[in-house]
Amino acid sequence: MHFPEPALIAMVGAAGSGKSTAAKAFPAGWRLELDALRAMAAGSPGEQSATPVAVAAFRMLLDARLERGLSVVVDSTNTETPVRLDLLRRARTFGVPTVAIVSRTPLDECLARQHDRPASKQVPPDAVTRQHAAVPTHEQLLAEGWDQVHDAACIDLLHLALQRAATAAADSDPLHEIRAAFGDDLTAAFTYTDANCEHGRFTIAGRDLELRYTGGEPYDRTWQARIGGTCDCGGDLWVPVGTPAELLAAYRDEPDDEAVCGRCDDVLFVG
Ligand SMILES: Nc1ncnc2c1ncn2[C@@H]1O[C@H](COP(=O)(O)OP(=O)(O)O)[C@@H](O)[C@H]1O
Ligand SMILES: [Mg+2]
Repeated sequence: MHFPEPALIAMVGAAGSGKSTAAKAFPAGWRLELDALRAMAAGSPGEQSATPVAVAAFRMLLDARLERGLSVVVDSTNTETPVRLDLLRRARTFGVPTVAIVSRTPLDECLARQHDRPASKQVPPDAVTRQHAAVPTHEQLLAEGWDQVHDAACIDLLHLALQRAATAAADSDPLHEIRAAFGDDLTAAFTYTDANCEHGRFTIAGRDLELRYTGGEPYDRTWQARIGGTCDCGGDLWVPVGTPAELLAAYRDEPDDEAVCGRCDDVLFVG
């Protein structure tokens, strides 16, 4: 299975058929969902008074992404022909290939799943039944003009998500270890100070906390923070840090752990 990129990927299926679950195979930034836009506008995904603003935001974001050659996943029922034709028209305007992913979950399951949803996201049974009956066949979708048509149950979307995550983690975020250990907010204040990404510092408004990578044993924490004071040999002192709480303790010069001298490697007990 190979998806073009960029692509306009439209989920097609009745409410409760599993579209949003399948759409999670794609990055969050690609997904456009009216429920989410209604929730942003009005605090609740089912707030129908927010539909006009959600639709307007949806159209603007769809065109903005297509115009820039960015992929979009349209996570709505897309069971009505005019809605799909409009998507195809917009994709063609920007020269972006189109993919339909169809969820063909049996009607009784779609209906039963409504009960498991929060009241604000439940769709009335007659609407679900109408949507289910309107789901086009594979051949109809190809004839309509979709470049690729897939049945969600027949393609390995988990494989796709794992593949994408593995590639992204390996090459796009040199700060991913810092982020995983210390969180987004602190990572925003962190910069590496060497080309090998083994030294860096958290800096905010003239105050800083230095970090070094120790490449320690497996299961050991691999970062150390510099604390105040020096070893008898005159070297800097470092303590292991793996959590924000340990960073705080190091910054306050109150580490729980013993410190290591950066010059002679002696271990000193501090605190
Ligand atoms: N393949 C599946 N097997 C079992 N349950 C599923 C599957 N796909 C989705 N569900 C469940 O069905 C419910 C509706 O799925 P969702 O993706 O929100 O549907 P939609 O976005 O099409 O309305 C959710 O509770 C979800 O966990
Ligand atoms: Mg959904």
